Amino acid sequence: MDEVTFKSDTVLSDVHLYTPNHRHLMVRLNSMGQPVFLSRFKLLWSHASQTDSGAEGGGRGSGPAGEAPPSGPGGGPSSDATSQEGPGARLDEDGDLDVERRPRAASDPEPAGPPRDKVHPTILTQEEEEEEDGLADGARGARPQDIIRIEHTMATPLEDVGKQVWRGALLLADYILFQRDLFQGRTVLELGAGTGLASIIAATVAQTVYCTDVGADLLAMCQRNIALNSHLTAAGGGVVKVKELDWLRDDLCTDPEVPFSWSQEDVSDLYSHTTILLAAEVFYDDDLTDALFTTLSRLAHKLKNACTAILSVEKRLNFTLRHLDVTCEAYEHFRSWLRRLERRADGRLRFAVERLEASFPQLLAYERTRQLELWGISVEPVM
Ligand SMILES: C[S@@+](CC[C@H](N)C(=O)[O-])C[C@H]1O[C@@H](n2cnc3c(N)ncnc32)[C@H](O)[C@@H]1O
Repeated sequence: MDEVTFKSDTVLSDVHLYTPNHRHLMVRLNSMGQPVFLSRFKLLWSHASQTDSGAEGGGRGSGPAGEAPPSGPGGGPSSDATSQEGPGARLDEDGDLDVERRPRAASDPEPAGPPRDKVHPTILTQEEEEEEDGLADGARGARPQDIIRIEHTMATPLEDVGKQVWRGALLLADYILFQRDLFQGRTVLELGAGTGLASIIAATVAQTVYCTDVGADLLAMCQRNIALNSHLTAAGGGVVKVKELDWLRDDLCTDPEVPFSWSQEDVSDLYSHTTILLAAEVFYDDDLTDALFTTLSRLAHKLKNACTAILSVEKRLNFTLRHLDVTCEAYEHFRSWLRRLERRADGRLRFAVERLEASFPQLLAYERTRQLELWGISVEPVM
């Protein structure tokens, strides 16, 4: 397989889409028949002052900030849809303009470079990858402790977007690396962890990280990633526990028959010791955003200690005919929740919201666009 064609309802990986000719190691097909790739993300300790540095793995965007067209878990047309015309333009349920691509006629000139809707991953065999590792990493002086290996997909239907790596996870990982002291020895809970990348980075300093999401297939992939990077977490004694935590459920599943369910000890440890909550790129669907914030609030009320939630979000722009303008409705919904939390006065907890400047050094390679934001919510008991 040297060419993958995506359907119009496929969500493409932001992180990998712009590296069409990068060499990717396909390791297997998952239980859904989706190709699973292995990427190496290199920690650029020696380039800490740079904000757009080169790196191994699939993490490098192609252009300067803002140049790449937004895609992302919200799917739908990006802001460049304003300049598109053609057959098949229609509205989706939300009023977004849904543009179908005109089939290419034989007379159309060949586009320069790879077509926009195709990637040409160069698939490596395991041996080739090991060879590459030896040569490339040796040449660049990368040590095993500077490499995070992540299994992921590059294109999925919307319900499987957690199997891709999102820029928000890389931004959050950078923040954790920058704020190592804050995470030292802590118990951390990540919501909607996807491939587990941010949880793995957190566990290089934290004592315990509850890495949570939904779906046995995704959680199994996440568990594999934890195992792939055990050398990183073991060094600091950190433990990552992969668990199911569904924002659409009020309780944690403790049925021992269910994969990734919670033991009573874990539940008790979670509520007694967690002081940091994390969530990256989980604000792309208003109903899920409602569920996430409801979960966050419920957890904050159950935790024994004050806590801080650190959230990354990408402000994705979409052209909608409803507004006849470029809007970012999912982002606005996210912001309305932040305002709602700050106004909240339930007599027990106070929520203080703060935008965290993303000016800290970039140790992982990805496009840190202006649309990528980090927010902190401090939750404290009302005295
Ligand atoms: C866009 S992905 C982000 C994944 C990861 N945080 C990252 O940045 O790479 C959104 C994540 O939210 C998770 N999610 C969606 N609905 C959920 C629910 N009801 N409960 C828990 N997680 C959910 C998805 O499975 C997915 O992993």
